Amino acid sequence: MTPRRFRLFDDLAHRYDLHTPAHHYGTDHRFVLEELGRAGPRILDVGCGTGVFLEKALAQGFDAYGTDVATGMVREAAAKVGDQRVRQEAMESLAAEDAYDGICALSWVINYAADAAAARDILRRFRRALKPGGRLLIQTAHAPNMDGRVLEDREDGPDGAADDIVFLFQFTATGADTALARYVYAGKALGELAWEEHPLAVADAGLLARLCGEVGLVNTRVFGSCARDPLGRSVSPWVLAEAPA
Ligand SMILES: C[S@@+](CC[C@H](N)C(=O)[O-])C[C@H]1O[C@@H](n2cnc3c(N)ncnc32)[C@H](O)[C@@H]1O
Repeated sequence: MTPRRFRLFDDLAHRYDLHTPAHHYGTDHRFVLEELGRAGPRILDVGCGTGVFLEKALAQGFDAYGTDVATGMVREAAAKVGDQRVRQEAMESLAAEDAYDGICALSWVINYAADAAAARDILRRFRRALKPGGRLLIQTAHAPNMDGRVLEDREDGPDGAADDIVFLFQFTATGADTALARYVYAGKALGELAWEEHPLAVADAGLLARLCGEVGLVNTRVFGSCARDPLGRSVSPWVLAEAPA
């Protein structure tokens, strides 16, 4: 099945770091580098988006690579870390074997899988791409904890004007493990307004942990946040698993 194309990740990829700036991820990225770093330096960021994590990983001495399905995102990431580090590829097509010490998929990339069967196949590909003892870290949407509240971020505009960029978002469960993410982006100085709905699948950390077991990953753990706390009320938990040594 051909992955769906989203404007936020393609036509508006050059605005992504404006409404979702790098400082949003500070503690998350430290956690990811710590967890993946335990296995080794060669890592793959699947659905790397604009390359913010890759840039950080490279600066810390990791041999980091990224893939993303969206042309716009790959262009943005390559501008940060170079063409050699990023390639356009759907997670459904990852074919590497025994190649990485760590793989991560951050900010709900896995939830763009079509369904649980597709996610199982993707996880099997991740497992195959990991070296023995390699680590997988996935940040997933978690539908059971979504409450449909409308949330808002405001960021400085490209010319530095305070609160010029407005990003509204709402996450609503549509089933036990499916959800709908609604996004509104406004760049006031740029005169831009766009909105989009993203259906999310396998939006349940317990389901993903089970699928990890089904493809032979071991030592699977679920954390509610990068503080490694229990799942609790988190809408964006983490699933950590390992390839058998
Ligand atoms: C919410 S963004 C997160 C980007 C980045 N991981 C981050 O943390 O900023 C989701 C990313 O997943 C990518 N994506 C969606 N479907 C994908 C697929 N089938 N294969 C690979 N990447 C995909 C999108 O293009 C987008 O860059």
